[in-house]
Amino acid sequence: MAFELTKIFWGFLTLLLVSNLQCNYLVEGVSQVPCLFIFGDSLLDTGNNNLLPTLSKVNYLPYGIDFPRGPTGRFSNGRNYADVVAELLGFEKYLPVPFASATSGTDILKGVNYASGSSGIRDESGYTEGARISLNLQLLNHKIIVARIVQILGNKELAAQHLSKCVYLVGIGSNDYANNYFLPQFYPTSRLFTPERYSIVLIQQLRLQLQTLYNLGARKLALSGLSLIGCTPYEVATYGTNGGPCVDNINIAVQLFNTRLRSLVDDLNANFSNFKSIYINNYEIQSSTNASSGNLIVRNATCCEVVIGQVRCIPFGNTCANRNEYVFWDAFHPTEVASVAFASRAYKALLPTDAYPYDISQLALA
Ligand SMILES: *[C@@H]1O[C@H](CO)[C@@H](O)[C@H](O)[C@H]1NC(C)=O
Ligand SMILES: *[C@@H]1O[C@H](CO)[C@@H](O)[C@H](O)[C@H]1NC(C)=O
Ligand SMILES: *[C@@H]1O[C@H](CO)[C@@H](O)[C@H](O)[C@H]1NC(C)=O
Repeated sequence: MAFELTKIFWGFLTLLLVSNLQCNYLVEGVSQVPCLFIFGDSLLDTGNNNLLPTLSKVNYLPYGIDFPRGPTGRFSNGRNYADVVAELLGFEKYLPVPFASATSGTDILKGVNYASGSSGIRDESGYTEGARISLNLQLLNHKIIVARIVQILGNKELAAQHLSKCVYLVGIGSNDYANNYFLPQFYPTSRLFTPERYSIVLIQQLRLQLQTLYNLGARKLALSGLSLIGCTPYEVATYGTNGGPCVDNINIAVQLFNTRLRSLVDDLNANFSNFKSIYINNYEIQSSTNASSGNLIVRNATCCEVVIGQVRCIPFGNTCANRNEYVFWDAFHPTEVASVAFASRAYKALLPTDAYPYDISQLALA
């Protein structure tokens, strides 16, 4: 009898354990949206530049020093903004896959990351770095993926249904400033356009690109605004600051773009049926993330060793002792902790100004 009871007890325990494991498995596997597609530049790139002939790639240490898989091409010591958004949306580690390694299989149903370091809205942005996948090319790559999804799901209607439920995160424009307008020795744009006019031209082009994305089935769009580019150690070293912490004219130009990007959200939502788009105010998020709201106390120095006037870490160079206290990892890109701080507020707004008209967690439900 005791034997039987023990057997039943163990059987029950096993059952409990198994169902518990299955529960955990299910919970981990369930994301808030079925798919996430990412378009953008080095702030979101997860390895698309690794095989390109470009200076703008970082698949070497100390990049990835805090990333479980080591250097992967992320412009960070650890996870980047795209990783954090994906994680908060409930995606398994490290989905979505970069386009460069999305060769086969059904992972692409969960989305793809097309982002490419040094790329921009304008095709020429970043050419001084070498090859890059401009936003226009990223959209062509998406077209290829959409065709594969139609094949996997069997028909266009099912594919359209699936694609309409995905979140599309677009973070682009930094290089149209840092690797174009504010490099007048290589690019003519600052002689052709006032900062005001340039922001209009960029937003007009971006609107057409987002229309293409809409035509490829996107219905839930998060537009990631530009951050304080004028405060990056690279721009500060290049331009000087007149005593302040940042290069003000760069930040002013960036804000002209951001204001129009926010208005673009109204335009898209009004003029494209069933398009739900939002604007993430990274500029305000970064401005209001200060020492009092975390450990990010070093804002004027890079954590890794960088040659003055350059952007990227010296290969196998030293890093700062406390990587949790630095906003900047190299001379342009945030540390993992800074990305976590910024992207968390994009996902779940802390201040009403963080996202317009609502944040990514609400976009997922919309
Ligand atoms: C789109 O909608 C906005 C309203 O937000 C309107 O002012 C604008 O003229 C529209 N644009 C186009 C091209 O239809
Ligand atoms: C720090 O951020 C908070 C909002 O998170 C803001 O109210 C405060 O003014 C900021 N302080 C400084 C010194 O910027
Ligand atoms: C950064 O700012 C601190 C004070 O906040 C200052 O002591 C330090 O010299 C600055 N470092 C650089 C590289 O400008």
